[in-house]
Amino acid sequence: MDHFNLKDGSIHCEDVPLEVIADEVGTPVYVYSAATLRRHARVLQEALTGLEDPLIAYAVKANPNPAVLSILARAGLGADIVSIGEYRASRAAGMSPETILFSGVGKTGEEMAEALSGGLKQFNLESIEEAHTLSIVARSMDMEAPVALRINPDVEAGTHAKITTGTADNKFGLPAADAIAAFQAVRDLPNLKVTGVTVHIGSQLTSLAPLEAAFDRLGALISDLRNEGFALEIADLGGGLGVPYGPGQPEPPSPAEYGAMVKRVTKDWSIRLAFEPGRLISGNAGVLLSRAVRVKPGEVHPWLIVDAAMNDLMRPALYDAYHHVDAVRPSASKMTAHVVGPVCESGDTFAMARELDRVEEGDLIFFRTAGAYGAAMSSGYNSRPLTPEVLIDGDRWALVRRRLDLADAASLPLPEWLR
Ligand code: LLP
Repeated sequence: MDHFNLKDGSIHCEDVPLEVIADEVGTPVYVYSAATLRRHARVLQEALTGLEDPLIAYAVKANPNPAVLSILARAGLGADIVSIGEYRASRAAGMSPETILFSGVGKTGEEMAEALSGGLKQFNLESIEEAHTLSIVARSMDMEAPVALRINPDVEAGTHAKITTGTADNKFGLPAADAIAAFQAVRDLPNLKVTGVTVHIGSQLTSLAPLEAAFDRLGALISDLRNEGFALEIADLGGGLGVPYGPGQPEPPSPAEYGAMVKRVTKDWSIRLAFEPGRLISGNAGVLLSRAVRVKPGEVHPWLIVDAAMNDLMRPALYDAYHHVDAVRPSASKMTAHVVGPVCESGDTFAMARELDRVEEGDLIFFRTAGAYGAAMSSGYNSRPLTPEVLIDGDRWALVRRRLDLADAASLPLPEWLR
């Protein structure tokens, strides 16, 4: 459930009409609902009650806006980060070091050093080579680094290939078969303390079966590792639970169903569990608001050309992802159209032959479920500015990222010989 609803004939986010945001900030613009963010955090927390002190570390990559992070920090969430930029943003938003997990296959020595000195719960390592680098860094700082190893369980997640991460041909994690040897090798490295195990098999999962298969493998590994004398404190189950994108799209299991499965599978593990949800928290808490530039007649269906484009919301171009499109002021009538942006690529297509509210030049539309991997993945392609972001909280709203013009002369200095 989100807070983007029709009131008095036009779509509001909480108590603010989207028309007000379009008038004041311009389009395209991302709009986030604080109440929805808080609600999603609470729903997951409730789904996990009964577990002892679960750590919910929000996957910052999904939406790293400082206002979003600040709301989630206040809601009691920690952070799953993959770069030092995300580390700094999480700390600035008030997330405590004890709640920060550092994931990613390519952490650099500099990033490790900064996070270690600033404090974090654990590094989720993806290779023995990475453990060597961290060991050298920690030794040079005379500190002990807490580490978990990420296991690649070789489970097919049943999602888009580009967001599958837990099969043998993905770059992520260590093969489960080599896990014990890897843990032993890492235990022998100076200045590292093995604290946990972690797994993450992909994103937008709409079935619990692959998650359960991965968790079963992790459970077996935990007991093998304990037999080898490892004192493990944390089992990090990653993120990946899907969200509903709209009619005709696969319905994901609810957080409550996910929580029940986790409790059943892990009941004998005697270990603290960590979770790294991204999309589940922010996906349906945001929309991309856009204006129809014109309607161009087409062979079969018209082209609805809007002022948002693939650089603002890459997911349809990159993954053929579905984003539901609605008019901000729907009339009773419908149309079938191809919804496209102004960028000079055929891939700049949001939807083909989509039935939607009838809109005309100048009307406002919005793309739902754009709060995760929307603004976060935007670019300045075609010399378009980065989309601004607005946060709404009840009847209050604020610009939380201004429209960023990447083409300003100060950040693109011409070589002296070309002036
Ligand atoms: N933990 C790790 C280690 C991850 O790699 C990810 C996502 C997450 C947690 C959060 O996954 P979530 O709960 O959001 O599914 N850009 C793609 C999604 C990429 C996900 C990358 N990793 C998209 O727009 O669908």
